[in-house]
Amino acid sequence: MTIEWSPEAREFHLRNDRVSYIFRVLENGWLGHLYFGAPLAEGRSYAHLVPGEFYGFSNRLGEPVPLEYPSGGAGDYRIPAVAIELPDGSGVLDLRYKSHEAHPGKPEIPGLPSTYVEVGGEAETLEVVLADAVAEIEVRLLYTIYRDRPIVVRGARIVNSGKSPAIVRCAMSASLDLPDSDWELISLSGEWARECHVERLGLRPGRQSVSSTRGASGHQHNPFVVLARPATTEASGEAIGLGLAYSGNFVAEAEVEPFGTTRLRTGINPDGFSWVLESGAEFSTPEAILAHSAGGLDALSDAYHRLFRERLARGSWRDRARPIVINNWEATYFDFDEPKLLAIATAAKEMGIELFVLDDGWFGRRNDDSTSLGDWQVNLTKLPGGLDSLARSVEALGMRFGIWIEPEMVSRSSDLFAEHPDWTIGVPSRPRTEGRNQYVLDMSRPEVVDHLFGVLSAVLGGAPISYVKWDMNRTITEPFSPALPVWRQGEFLHRYILGVYQLYDRLTKAFPGILFESCASGGGRFDAGMLAFAPQAWASDDTDAIERLKIQWGTSLAYPLNSIAAHVSAVPNHQVGRVTPLATRAAVAFFGVFGYELDPTALSAGERAEITDQVAFYKQWRELFQRGRFLRLRSPFEGERDEAAWMTVADDGRSAIAAHYRILSRPNPGPQRLRLRGLDAAAFYRVSIWPSPAEAAGVAARPIVLGGDELMAAGLVLESSRESAGAGDFRARLYVLEAI
Ligand code: GLA
Repeated sequence: MTIEWSPEAREFHLRNDRVSYIFRVLENGWLGHLYFGAPLAEGRSYAHLVPGEFYGFSNRLGEPVPLEYPSGGAGDYRIPAVAIELPDGSGVLDLRYKSHEAHPGKPEIPGLPSTYVEVGGEAETLEVVLADAVAEIEVRLLYTIYRDRPIVVRGARIVNSGKSPAIVRCAMSASLDLPDSDWELISLSGEWARECHVERLGLRPGRQSVSSTRGASGHQHNPFVVLARPATTEASGEAIGLGLAYSGNFVAEAEVEPFGTTRLRTGINPDGFSWVLESGAEFSTPEAILAHSAGGLDALSDAYHRLFRERLARGSWRDRARPIVINNWEATYFDFDEPKLLAIATAAKEMGIELFVLDDGWFGRRNDDSTSLGDWQVNLTKLPGGLDSLARSVEALGMRFGIWIEPEMVSRSSDLFAEHPDWTIGVPSRPRTEGRNQYVLDMSRPEVVDHLFGVLSAVLGGAPISYVKWDMNRTITEPFSPALPVWRQGEFLHRYILGVYQLYDRLTKAFPGILFESCASGGGRFDAGMLAFAPQAWASDDTDAIERLKIQWGTSLAYPLNSIAAHVSAVPNHQVGRVTPLATRAAVAFFGVFGYELDPTALSAGERAEITDQVAFYKQWRELFQRGRFLRLRSPFEGERDEAAWMTVADDGRSAIAAHYRILSRPNPGPQRLRLRGLDAAAFYRVSIWPSPAEAAGVAARPIVLGGDELMAAGLVLESSRESAGAGDFRARLYVLEAI
């Protein structure tokens, strides 16, 4: 890993064995982009990659100049990285190179989540200072390159060195000019209960973007996009990833201009955003995480998985095996008392489950979703001994105990709202819009964050609590804070999320032993910002195994398996009414942080025995399921959409588990093969099937031994027509591979 600076060519080259990022100071002082991609040799200039002489405005009006951090107003009509309203009301910026410095390591961003380093020599950071002499604005661009990752992390700090306030209207975390537009934009889009569906569409002239204006990253679009060549598959081809460690309003956008080049940018959504920068003040953007893959989407995902798992997630749970949970939500909803919960926990414990999670409804007068958010005192009618007694009883069974909270919310019918109506987001002269019968607290107010820290610390400190599910069940309407001056209302939604981060930071530091899981009606805020505090997230309220194939496939494009919480629930499924075999439900939920969300006391003896086996199987292979390399084999979004397959492989290639899901049964399908990836071609693997089949085609009911070369080149024989005849829909089969 090096950060090379050539004073003659005025060129920067950030390089490791997997990636190069190159840019230079143009003749007129602007910062011009040259290259991002597979590593190029050091010690050479690449200035010729961008032909032409870039000084004077005419070039800016003509051919597109690739720039590092473009601004508008002086001939570059593409989407800007930065826009600032200056004291004279103008918005023209002319940012020229002033100086630069390189440091070992990586700085933190004040108030914002970020990736980090832990050992010396892991990463280096370059800070390039650009200045506009007339406007007295400085922009400090930060670039971090890790030694062993195909990743460049970017961000910017904007400093007002003038005497009067200026208004930041747009401040992207990164902008990247690419020399062509032969790309497809992949985004993860959807809605509640169908998050992270993969959309892939060729770029065309003009702007194409995904974004949020909801105050949270949202179910609709994830703050993560990929540019892939049309020929790029999971296993091969070029791709560029653009992630953002941010949980509020974001944009991720590509613009193809008339010469066919592409500008890609991501950052805080400028729609509705502004930030007043007083004299001497500075504004930091969230960080953008750029990755390059020459080896397909698998390799791109792998780079993100490792970075997010190892250097974004933090705390005592980062590297630990995550427990198998039983959550009472779909088992009881709001209707429970202590005996009922203990019966669930006892039955779960008998099946080997490790942690009991008490979901919504344990506090205030909360017997439905119309009341009590904000009143974080236990409901003594339901739980006469309080959380402490329940938690101790659960611990006495030999399980850990966790609870659900929704700190950012308040119900109109609550003591908190009666006491502090002004702590609720809204425009004083207008009615507030309710969502799920609740309002959102004004997290931009320090006293609200302080209050929540106080009451939640009392809850978490008052009982042996090992796990917290932090929910957020509505997005923001009427964004306004009476606590902010008129001219700062454009800052509100960013200040809101800074308040959320601050509360997360304080609680995770005060309770370092607790495993936090984030949730926002499922995957409504599943993003890299949240993962810095809560290392796992509830991927979707949709627990149907078949729906989950798509959700987990899409989520895995960016996020590691040990961040994706996935539970087995009862049938008919509560979201879609589908009836799937118990084995299939487990075979999907295994690929993530596994758990159950059903009433085990309502199961038959046969079902309990099956779950006991599932739990034992997951424990045996937990490391592989949570931290193996994930390879997507057959997409539920492609072809006839009636099958899916994926696998996880240990880093040393000695063990792997592949899964094949047959969504709809096919009549007389003929022999089917599935080619695996990531194995050791020279190794022999003992292959066994889970669950043990009554009969099987290519792989017998008892294990057989196959070569890694064969499994990858010829494939695994899945099933024969005879075997699939009459077998029904929604089948799953796992193949466990152990090198011998
Ligand atoms: C949200 C969550 C669910 C559950 C409920 C409780 O919908 O996503 O898992 O916790 O809230 O109200």
